[in-house]
Amino acid sequence: MSAGARTFLVCLAVVASACTSVLLSQTLKYSKPPDAKNGEGLYKNGCIACHGIKGNGAPQTSTEFQWPDTFPDFTRCDQTTAETNVAYKDVVVHGGRSRGLSEIMPAFGELLTSERIDDVLAYMRGFCADKRWPRGELNLPRALVTEKAYPEDEVVISTAMNVTGAPGFTIDVIHEQRFGINNQIEIDVPINAQDQNHAWNSGLGDITFAVKRVMFANLRKGSILSLQGGVLAPTGNSKHGFGNGTTTFEPFAAFDQLFPTNTFLQFQLGADLPHRTDITPQSLFWRAAVGQTLAGDHRLGRMWSPMVEFLAERNLKDGAKINWDVLPELQVTISARQHVRFDLGVRTPVTNTAGRDKQLVFYLLWDWADGKLWEGWKK
Ligand code: HEC
Repeated sequence: MSAGARTFLVCLAVVASACTSVLLSQTLKYSKPPDAKNGEGLYKNGCIACHGIKGNGAPQTSTEFQWPDTFPDFTRCDQTTAETNVAYKDVVVHGGRSRGLSEIMPAFGELLTSERIDDVLAYMRGFCADKRWPRGELNLPRALVTEKAYPEDEVVISTAMNVTGAPGFTIDVIHEQRFGINNQIEIDVPINAQDQNHAWNSGLGDITFAVKRVMFANLRKGSILSLQGGVLAPTGNSKHGFGNGTTTFEPFAAFDQLFPTNTFLQFQLGADLPHRTDITPQSLFWRAAVGQTLAGDHRLGRMWSPMVEFLAERNLKDGAKINWDVLPELQVTISARQHVRFDLGVRTPVTNTAGRDKQLVFYLLWDWADGKLWEGWKK
């Protein structure tokens, strides 16, 4: 590893540990377990006028307000289970405005203690009766390369740019969409441009179509496991080296673990299995991301997630070496609603480095289930 990468790693570790000691994390931790019974009384006093007896909203005629498009129906598991208790609590304490939502939603931070808000949220979680939906707490920050287990509704534009070797970059336009309780489809369209012997060549890479399914999700344990099956169509211009030149099957497993301190681990194990192995060899890949989310303090406004990825890949040919890369990065939410995020890192080959370039990698992510791209920026 180069001196630059080592310094970056050390800085990340120092920042992460300094912040953790200052901030409180709340994801899975409570000073006492919330009491939904207690929350019911509170809900009936303070929330029912707008959110209704059943949680699906008071009839518009009985209120003087015009509900915003994002007004939640708490009986709809598809609208609520992806939202975290931390995000909900933030809105209840500081009001809708604090997360770029409607100002009709009042702030209760001065009326209710932290425990009582946990109680009322525990009661409101009961409005979604189907417990099979994986909870949004298990939706860990997306790493630059390692795929996560949680199914998503998002668009990601991810760029990898050479900083050593011949100039070149790849932009992946990725669309992910949930369906049913546990499933997600993914389409990834890569666009390449490269300086090849002083001539710029550009073109499409191999387009991926994939389906992911959650096999296991448990909020209390903080664990989630998914399997994905994908096909890379040979749409790339393989003459310029953009694509495998043959249809490739890509199965993988992703396992994510969240700890009560908001530290997380993400693992991905998979294979690339080309139809014609005479053109492109089969390979195995193993990826891991370890990181920490810093979000406890409302005044910080943003959610910061420093992470380090460890990326390994090996051809299934005799005598092939393992390509190891390390990728320290920082993800940050950039909209008040936290539905638009940015992540930036440097990917450095550490073994088998001949012909493998160091890259600057970054993405812009839009979680479109949480609102339009241009909404939710202002507090
Ligand atoms: C005056 C009407 C009103 C009252 C009273 C009210 N709310 Fe709301 N609440 C809203 C509106 C409107 C929204 C939707 C905001 C948006 O999506 O822009 C909302 C949204 C929410 C959300 C969802 C935020 C999100 O991220 O989608 C939660 C959670 C919530 N309210 C909890 C409560 C609780 C708990 C109480 C009682 C302690 C309460 N509300 C009382 C109007 C109200």
